[in-house]
Amino acid sequence: MEKIVILTGAGISAESGLGTFRDEGGLWAQHRIEDVATPEGFARDPALVHGFYNARRVQAAEAQPNAAHKALARLQRDWPGEVIIVTQNVDGLHEAGGAQSVIHMHGTLAGALCAACGHRWTAPPEMAVGEPCPACAAPTARPDVVWFGEMPYHMDSIYDHLAGAGLFAAIGTSGQVYPAAAFVHEATMSGARTVELNLDPSTGASSFDDVVLGPATETVPHWVDQMLISQ
Ligand code: OAD
Repeated sequence: MEKIVILTGAGISAESGLGTFRDEGGLWAQHRIEDVATPEGFARDPALVHGFYNARRVQAAEAQPNAAHKALARLQRDWPGEVIIVTQNVDGLHEAGGAQSVIHMHGTLAGALCAACGHRWTAPPEMAVGEPCPACAAPTARPDVVWFGEMPYHMDSIYDHLAGAGLFAAIGTSGQVYPAAAFVHEATMSGARTVELNLDPSTGASSFDDVVLGPATETVPHWVDQMLISQ
């Protein structure tokens, strides 16, 4: 059975109450990317950056997975082939919704990373400036999230999965951030069919074979039902 590779973005968690980045009033309307989502911003004002991610960590911990997260978990469980979920989200709601394995290409709010030695550990609910790394004791703990100007995680494995995909689906992502925005081209070159499920057409909507518009809690369960019926 064909392998399905799914890319998700902030739109899949919007109906769980987590704000997206670029929709009206979204996170990037309230905060400057260069202040809170770049290594330079962290070097300039680590307290501001920790404050931003601490608030998001609390929100994510309080949020519940929605019908779209649960439907993807069902697809992963019931589809006879592989279902690879690659997410740009740092909220952990795919796992909370029952997904067995998820590739976190932009990291996770649940993780802390030592900027000095690369050691990783579970983040406390609130991270503070100057916390020592449990491995090397350097006071350089940061959230284990990928910032602009940094290389997303697990790219080799993601490209391998895209090369073997029979179907690629992008869900709730605006298609404005690379390299994720180019996955549709990688998948197409590998011969995969491609589908976008989004509230509004993304920047790259014309690159997909099919586009399904609507809120993720409606479109994703319906799409999963169709996939499982048609297998
Ligand atoms: P964006 O905020 O750029 O896009 C969210 C997308 O979700 C838009 O296309 C919306 O139309 C759609 N959307 C909103 N509500 C929806 C709903 N209820 N159902 C379905 N779709 C809905 O978020 P991303 O594309 O995830 O990176 O952003 C990509 C990256 O940019 C993020 O991972 C983050 C950000 O800067 C970093 O911080 C490195």
